[in-house]
Amino acid sequence: IKRVTTHTLQDMKGRGEKISMLTAYDYSMATIVDAGGTDVILVGDSASNVMAGHETTLPITLDQMIYHASSVVRAAKRALIVVDLPFGTYQGNSKEALNSAIRIMKESGAHAVKLEGGVEIAESITRILTAGIPVMGHLGLTPQSIYKFGTYTVRAKEEAEAAKLKQDALKLQELGCFGIVIEKIPAQLGKEVSESLSIPTIGIGAGQHCDGQVLVIHDMLGLNKGFKPRFLRQYANLYEDMNKAIQNYVSDVKGGSFPNEKEQY
Ligand code: KIV
Ligand code: NA
Repeated sequence: IKRVTTHTLQDMKGRGEKISMLTAYDYSMATIVDAGGTDVILVGDSASNVMAGHETTLPITLDQMIYHASSVVRAAKRALIVVDLPFGTYQGNSKEALNSAIRIMKESGAHAVKLEGGVEIAESITRILTAGIPVMGHLGLTPQSIYKFGTYTVRAKEEAEAAKLKQDALKLQELGCFGIVIEKIPAQLGKEVSESLSIPTIGIGAGQHCDGQVLVIHDMLGLNKGFKPRFLRQYANLYEDMNKAIQNYVSDVKGGSFPNEKEQY
């Protein structure tokens, strides 16, 4: 199996082939995500929500991200593995940003890091890139800034914020990022940004003109009961399937039908 690299993604954009990206946080799930042909696996700080049960992505630590990332690295044979730098490990201090990125690369074996923000974090991005670590950007709805935004609604609907996002996207490309996640923005803006860049855009709630798409694996598999924003297409209903399996197990144990004669020594 040939490993997907940042260069592969650039070539894909060049020939108009869409890029598929999904999150994973553990060995078993990442094995399935990789085997399904996903180009990029994101060890997202959404682990804070779906793995740890926090309301936001802010509490997850660098050590916890490294634990998730190293589990994914042991599973994925083909996908490019990108890891989120968590909140508080890169903003406002480029030396700390570099140290955080180096720890992720060294201790997990992942291939790239992702940071939220535009021109404000330019110095951190440059410093990480200078060390030879590929960087992915993330613009639009950036969940680490949720307390600034106040809500999880669509970003950049107004001209000023849209103009800033376009500038930030160009800046990230100029700095040397290999791609940019654009989250929850109008499809028209997603189109304009994607067309204005030579590096690939990966959208989530950013419309069909992005160069690729990303979803949180728990959301697309229907493991997050009741979470159904407009941008989410649910490809399975694992909450229901697993709930039924567990109810059947409990009932078999209580009724004495598990284990049967063939299921014992
Ligand atoms: O943490 C995450 O899952 C993400 C994606 C939604 C892009 O950043
Ligand atoms: Na994230």
